Amino acid sequence: MYEVQKRDALAPGLTLLKIRAPQIARKMQPGQFVIARVDEFGERIPLSVADWDNESISVVVQDVGVSTRKISLLDVTDSLQNLAGPLGKPSPIENFGTVAVVSGCFGIGPGYALARALKKAGNRVIMIVEARNPDWLFWQDRLEKVSDRLILTCNRAGADDSCATNPVKRLIESEKIDRVYAIGCTFMMMEISNATAPAAVPTRVSLMPLMVDGTGMCGACRCLVEGKTVLGCVDGPEFDGHKVDWNRLVERMRSYLDEETAAMDIWDRENWHLATDRKAAQAAHGRV
Ligand SMILES: Cc1cc2nc3c(=O)[nH]c(=O)nc-3n(C[C@H](O)[C@H](O)[C@H](O)COP(=O)(O)OP(=O)(O)OC[C@H]3O[C@@H](n4cnc5c(N)ncnc54)[C@H](O)[C@@H]3O)c2cc1C
Ligand code: FES
Repeated sequence: MYEVQKRDALAPGLTLLKIRAPQIARKMQPGQFVIARVDEFGERIPLSVADWDNESISVVVQDVGVSTRKISLLDVTDSLQNLAGPLGKPSPIENFGTVAVVSGCFGIGPGYALARALKKAGNRVIMIVEARNPDWLFWQDRLEKVSDRLILTCNRAGADDSCATNPVKRLIESEKIDRVYAIGCTFMMMEISNATAPAAVPTRVSLMPLMVDGTGMCGACRCLVEGKTVLGCVDGPEFDGHKVDWNRLVERMRSYLDEETAAMDIWDRENWHLATDRKAAQAAHGRV
């Protein structure tokens, strides 16, 4: 069992969990992920790692369905049934020069870990964070420490930019960017890849195909990259954004939408009291 040591409601629907897992934490590298199972009936859910020390890993969980909601509701001293990792290939970290790290939603967490490693390797790091509204922004203090420049975008009247795409285009026009990384929602990663393609700026994206075992055995995470079938879990999760077949990826990610929606409805009806408790807990943190 993997005990939760810390829980923090970072933003509405975004929860940080610090989980005791020394054997995983000691081998973890930026870009890798874990697969978590909340209880004996739980699905296997891939989660990117946002931080770690010798004893524990931290993940940022975005509540989008039954399993992420159940994991988000875990509290200190609760435990996950299983945790497997580290999984996936680590991000290659070297001194590329000037690197832009674009992140949003839960991706701000793993984006922070990536930026920290790139900064340590000697890169000039520009972080661009996309938040749907100001409440969705977290770790600004941490992000400032690992970047030379932090650009915040948010979908709010009066904000200079509503999303990360235009700042990325302006950066590419105004200076030499040696590499772009994008991590967060699939649409954002696709848009960033489209924005960097005309200038051929190398762009790495951390894909989120459906995964089951996470070790290359089931084939659930098949993606098309440069016309070839690859496995997101063992060949990735990071790929060249200019070579990903985004339509195929989104199509496969939506394969079980009806079943997922039905499962969420049933869970909500059976667990209405937990949703109420969750709102109360978020209100206590000043976030409803
Ligand atoms: C390598 C990787 C790293 C990820 N890192 C994070 C993270 O750090 N934080 C975070 O909140 N989310 C992360 N995700 C996404 C997360 O795994 C899914 O949101 C989660 O599995 C959804 O499960 P659910 O039961 O809550 O929702 P569901 O209602 O079952 O699904 C909602 C949507 O999530 C996707 N999804 C569902 N099941 C899976 C699955 N087994 N594997 C992948 N995607 C699935 C589908 O697109 C689906 O439409 C990551 C995914 C991958 C592949
Ligand atoms: S998740 Fe099964 S092969 Fe990748």
